[in-house]
Amino acid sequence: MSTPLLRVVPDRAATTVADQVATLDLVARAGDRRPYVITNFAITLDGHATIDGRSGPIGSDADTAMLVGLRTRVDAVMIGAGTMRAERYGRVIGDPAKRQRRERDGLAHDPLMVIVSGRLDLPWDAPLFTEGHGRVLIATSSDDQPPPTETPVRVLRQAEGIDLSALMTHLRTERGVRALLCEGGPRLHAQLIDADLVDELFVTQAAKLAGGVGPGLVSGLEEVVRPLELAWLLVEERTGELFGRYALAPG
Ligand SMILES: NC(=O)c1ccc[n+]([C@@H]2O[C@H](COP(=O)([O-])OP(=O)(O)OC[C@H]3O[C@@H](n4cnc5c(N)ncnc54)[C@H](OP(=O)(O)O)[C@@H]3O)[C@@H](O)[C@H]2O)c1
Repeated sequence: MSTPLLRVVPDRAATTVADQVATLDLVARAGDRRPYVITNFAITLDGHATIDGRSGPIGSDADTAMLVGLRTRVDAVMIGAGTMRAERYGRVIGDPAKRQRRERDGLAHDPLMVIVSGRLDLPWDAPLFTEGHGRVLIATSSDDQPPPTETPVRVLRQAEGIDLSALMTHLRTERGVRALLCEGGPRLHAQLIDADLVDELFVTQAAKLAGGVGPGLVSGLEEVVRPLELAWLLVEERTGELFGRYALAPG
């Protein structure tokens, strides 16, 4: 978290991921009907969100620190089933000091992990399910039952595909989620953007080219132009990575 960064927008100053993340009071921005929603992605200069089918090779340690830092500022983290299958998540926040810091800031020890899945075909042997930490909510249109897991898993069923707007309302009004971080993947992100459910994007642009046919930030969207407002731009001078924070105006 202490990697030195240069902030070039909105002003020019030395900073770190920890200093930047500490300024975020996301839960205070919750609406009545849905959480304040931010998303986080790492992309290559040519716009790919995967290298060899994974996101890990794209970003540096500073990118990981940004992702973990954002997790410390929200009530819930959301991913699609494709991301869970590719990335095989473990405990959302592994560092006990960061979990204690969450409690001091009025947040639950562990964020609620929300997984959106049509088929309920998930890697049940992944540490998120087997280690018994935190809580998981799976929104699915499958009638199947999940297998027994060490980590408490609740299932929310909706027929014929998950209505993400209804899911957000459920999370806000029934589960008390004030701020939510969506970590992808591209297909879930595209639907959230399309449904005007995203308030801000945090995007790491790696100084790398990937080529190939990997997805971008959003997959499956009709061509659409959505202007974004740059709220901050940070540079990791050693790796050439750029960290952008963008506000998305309602469409
Ligand atoms: N660069 C980055 O920052 C980043 C971030 C995240 C992921 N990734 C990469 O992205 C790739 C995965 O991409 P993806 O687009 O397939 O992932 P995804 O959006 O996480 O998952 C897609 C799956 O989510 C479920 N889903 C999404 N919307 C749904 C809805 N409205 N109703 C019901 N189910 C819904 C479906 O699951 P079922 O299959 O269960 O029906 C669908 O197949 C992986 O390679 C991952 O590493 C990169």
